[in-house]
Amino acid sequence: MALQWDVILAFVLIVSLISAVQSRSRKSSAPVLTSDWFFGYPTALKMFTQYRPMLVEGYAKFNKHAFQVPGIKGWIVFVGRELYDDVRKARDDSLSMPEQVKDTVALEYTIDRAVALDPWHNSVVRKQMTQALGAKFPEIYDEITSAFQDELKLSGKEWKPVYAHDLIIHIVCRASNRLFVGLPLCRDPVYTQISRDFSGTVMFSGFLINLFPTFLKPLVGRWITAAPRARKGFEKFLVPMIKDRWRKEQEMGELWEKDKPSDLLQWVMDASKEHDSTPEDITNRLLGVNFAATHTTSLSFTHVVYWLAARPECASILREDVDEAVAKHGWTKTALGEMHKIDSFIKESLRVTGIGATAMGRKAMKDLTLSDGTFVPKGASVVMNLWGIHHDPTIFPKPLEFDPLRYSRRIEAGESEAGNSLATASGEFLFWGGGSHVCAGRHFASQEMKTMLAVIVSLYEVKFEGLADGVRPKDRWMAYSCIPDMKQRVMFRLRE
Ligand code: HEM
Repeated sequence: MALQWDVILAFVLIVSLISAVQSRSRKSSAPVLTSDWFFGYPTALKMFTQYRPMLVEGYAKFNKHAFQVPGIKGWIVFVGRELYDDVRKARDDSLSMPEQVKDTVALEYTIDRAVALDPWHNSVVRKQMTQALGAKFPEIYDEITSAFQDELKLSGKEWKPVYAHDLIIHIVCRASNRLFVGLPLCRDPVYTQISRDFSGTVMFSGFLINLFPTFLKPLVGRWITAAPRARKGFEKFLVPMIKDRWRKEQEMGELWEKDKPSDLLQWVMDASKEHDSTPEDITNRLLGVNFAATHTTSLSFTHVVYWLAARPECASILREDVDEAVAKHGWTKTALGEMHKIDSFIKESLRVTGIGATAMGRKAMKDLTLSDGTFVPKGASVVMNLWGIHHDPTIFPKPLEFDPLRYSRRIEAGESEAGNSLATASGEFLFWGGGSHVCAGRHFASQEMKTMLAVIVSLYEVKFEGLADGVRPKDRWMAYSCIPDMKQRVMFRLRE
């Protein structure tokens, strides 16, 4: 038995080595930042801890132009602002986003094969869901305020220490699911726990699966993903709901059109008619959206809360911004649209310390030449150097400084509101990616984060436990991901 395992291991290693040699055999014409000794594996391993310093070094050394580094799966060509339009405009048959995601997150195993191969529900998120955000705002606001109350359970003038990410992920999960499936399911402890736990496992299990050669992925995928359990867990709730809605549609005919629920589940169900979907397939798509929405928003907003705790003097400025807009329009989407300082505070938090150092990863599906003359071979990745661009002093004066009103001042000075707003993707704000795959949920995520910040400054006081004003705990970096210090607690108390 022991001998068999030795043989299997040796076989896997040989196949992996052959595929590593193949994937590295052709380079881009961009300069190489580091050594590519031993197929670049030492550099690829170094990138687990040194990813951001390498991006900083390459951006400076090659004067913002493209450079390449050997990654785990092959050559990575990091590009600057000048090639944003190349990446943005590229179609999936030349620079492919789904193929890159396959190489990093292995969605067909970590979520579901049909969802990964034909994510038609993304356009429902992009269109129907985004169009409904104004009408759905009162519900999202209600969910956020009640989730804060339920989670914090504050009374009197006591300070309460909490782990910010733990608090925020509970609130984000409830608020998003209020839009996705409505009440009462968005508050169900079992349903929301599946969403929170599952979303956290996808990235890591995707990374592990991708270490194996293609023919072993289905086997490994079955062992190491949480997807089958999460799918089953979600099915228990959603399949009966979907069947019940279909039954009512049959029975009620035209009346159903007027009375049917207005939530993502229903919009996906309506769109599913063109795709012959089963209730299980619809459920998997909801699980996929939960993955896209939960950890991205909660990690991002934890960074925002940390900046608020580190800079308590900003709270009164933000509160005024909220009070002014709410006095004119009540708690509405229109009021939120006028909260430029709230918007600016979040955008600046995510510029200085976003959740990642790169953006818009694309896999070259054929040999191609970028507009600056850089040759990219089939199989290499092209990735925007987000960190370099977001910290470039020619774009952002004093780029390492947290300047909370950086963007709202630009609007006050007459610059375009759209160009400076949080939800706008651009070559200078790569947080949402760009082009045809730009984040489909960015308007909702922006609305959700702005509402959470507006609610916090209106109802609570916030500070770090055991840290002086102005001090923000150090972030942790894992490859290109930036994770706020999860051990630091934040204190909340009710405002007078
Ligand atoms: C702060 C929170 C979020 C961040 C930072 C974020 C970021 C991103 C990024 C970087 C992409 C890839 C874009 C590209 O490569 O060009 C993306 C895609 C996507 N996001 Fe988000 N996202 C967030 C929240 C959400 C939410 C709340 C939803 C859904 C409600 C969502 C749904 C999607 C979908 C469906 C895609 C795939 C779009 C496509 O391939 O056409 N995201 N997101």
